[in-house]
Amino acid sequence: MKNNPLPRLDKDNELRGKLLPHCRLQPGEIWEDPQVGHKIGCLDAADKTQITTLMDGAKADLAVHDPPYNLIAFEERMLQDYIDWCEKWIRLTESCLSENSSLYIWLGADQGQAFQPLPDFMIMMRKIPQFKSRSFITLRNQRGYGTQKNWMCIRQELLYYTKGEPHFKVQYTDIPKVLRGYYKDISGVPTENLQRSKSQNIRAGNVWVDIQQVFYRMEENVSGCYAQKPLKVIERIVDASSEAGSIVIDFFGHSGSTLLACERLGRKCYTIDNDPVYCEMMIRRLELYREKGLLGWQNGNAFEEIPGEK
Ligand SMILES: C[S@@+](CC[C@H](N)C(=O)[O-])C[C@H]1O[C@@H](n2cnc3c(N)ncnc32)[C@H](O)[C@@H]1O
Repeated sequence: MKNNPLPRLDKDNELRGKLLPHCRLQPGEIWEDPQVGHKIGCLDAADKTQITTLMDGAKADLAVHDPPYNLIAFEERMLQDYIDWCEKWIRLTESCLSENSSLYIWLGADQGQAFQPLPDFMIMMRKIPQFKSRSFITLRNQRGYGTQKNWMCIRQELLYYTKGEPHFKVQYTDIPKVLRGYYKDISGVPTENLQRSKSQNIRAGNVWVDIQQVFYRMEENVSGCYAQKPLKVIERIVDASSEAGSIVIDFFGHSGSTLLACERLGRKCYTIDNDPVYCEMMIRRLELYREKGLLGWQNGNAFEEIPGEK
């Protein structure tokens, strides 16, 4: 296994400076994939003109957003500014989505800060009646924090809203069904739950415990990223809430997990990040997958051709 990961790029300005000349996109620019039609934009999620240019009249059936929420401190004013900013990109998302579509948002709930920004975000969403609340999903992390004087924090929150009546395909986990004994009378015969099931595995409900967090030993690891979502979780969302050929949007692309999930499942992804370095990472991750079938660089990195990064 290689041992040359990049550090968190949001915390290393010197390294960012070295990588920027190797980035294909400047702020405001969009890369269009000639093969499948994905788009990657170095754009601002809250900028109406930029998002309108990205969509170019097309509509998406699914949005998967994972905004930054590591604000320094949630004093009241900052929180309100954050929620106002969220409202802007949520309204833009609404304008990008088709009549029957789905919206998923990953959002933090800081237990030391009145669980913000989750509650105020939920209240803000009530102002946008086109979105109907559907599910409040929890992804269980393997690692957590706050283990000695509090319940270890191991959850990531995912909100699911719909517009109209979108497609939905039930998803199954890798966990075999083990509990028996829920009998029902079928044509006079008491039949237990396992006999009646469509799958030998349990369904993914709104608590997901079967997904491994990304860490440096996993092939899909993209070093330099600080918030990479596992491919498996994004593929579950894309498979459940979109159909082959449809457009999926992600306004906070980062490592490109949504892009790669779309590539693998035959959807078109229109994704943006306001940082040219993450835009370049996304393009390179797609190219790596197409050239070598790899999901990421494990403990290597996306810029290995640059002297000093080997
Ligand atoms: C939490 S990360 C997203 C992680 C992503 N889901 C993944 O799996 O890799 C948030 C990303 O949003 C980007 N970002 C922050 N503000 C933005 C804005 N106004 N417009 C677009 N992207 C932004 C950051 O550069 C960062 O890469």
